[in-house]
Amino acid sequence: MRRKPGRRVHAVTRVALVTGAARGIGAATVRALIAQGWEVLAVDRAKDDPALPYPLGTESELSTVATHTFVADVRDPGALAAAVAEAESRWGGLDAAIAAAGVIAGGVPTWEVTPEQEQAVLDVNLGGVLNLARVAVPALLRRPEPRSGRFLAVASAAATRGLPMLAAYCAAKAGVTGLVRALAAELGDTGVTANAVSPGSTDTPILAESARLYDLAGPADFAAQQPVRRLLAPAEVADVLAFLAGRGSSGMTGAVVPVDGGMAL
Ligand SMILES: NC(=O)c1ccc[n+]([C@@H]2O[C@H](COP(=O)([O-])OP(=O)(O)OC[C@H]3O[C@@H](n4cnc5c(N)ncnc54)[C@H](O)[C@@H]3O)[C@@H](O)[C@H]2O)c1
Repeated sequence: MRRKPGRRVHAVTRVALVTGAARGIGAATVRALIAQGWEVLAVDRAKDDPALPYPLGTESELSTVATHTFVADVRDPGALAAAVAEAESRWGGLDAAIAAAGVIAGGVPTWEVTPEQEQAVLDVNLGGVLNLARVAVPALLRRPEPRSGRFLAVASAAATRGLPMLAAYCAAKAGVTGLVRALAAELGDTGVTANAVSPGSTDTPILAESARLYDLAGPADFAAQQPVRRLLAPAEVADVLAFLAGRGSSGMTGAVVPVDGGMAL
């Protein structure tokens, strides 16, 4: 069928890149997007971090999440640039970049955290989002107008709450919300938006590590701090990210959406 002159058709398949995709919220987001017909490049470090005492996602976990995977550390802008290039060359462009990679450390007073752990928390949780923006936003802007590009980041309820023994994590996540607001203001009328979600306690390995840092019996102990009185499932956060990635969120930019079972109330 011939297209009417001057009318544009949307590309049928949208393309996303998700970091932190081997497990948890990132993996659930990849699955939600694929279920909605997206092409997704699933990116993860897929290897433990020597600075951190708990295991990260693995290559075998990453390979079960998606057909198209890419091993990259979000602290490495060159590796992220190569991931974006891979998505663009494979599928012809990029419509959504989702920064879900994150790590946690602390459990002792701020001034006693080792510099290596503090650096890892800041560099992955905030630096990693900045690095993704640096390489992915230009790709989102390379799509022809009218655009519906989406830059999304996973912040945390920790962005607005003072959580003892997790100061670097709180600082990094507050930084992510500031970044998303500034990016949204910069992107203006380009058709590319920037938003974040702030999850509450969600049942993933990072929460198990948080429980260990707080000497709790297990992650279930965090359920009491959110009004819904249960942990969230990663899919509940992923569903909101998938909505934000879609064209239906076009009226939102610079938003930080709580997905926290009411924890921030
Ligand atoms: N689970 C929660 O309760 C909760 C609450 C608020 C915010 N968050 C945030 O949600 C995001 C996802 O965390 P999750 O709960 O799924 O935890 P998770 O530990 O299950 O998943 C994190 C993933 O990020 C990957 N990763 C870590 N460092 C990386 C790096 N340098 N480069 C690339 N990938 C790296 C890990 O390998 C892992 O697959 C994080 O940003 C986290 O801070 C989680």
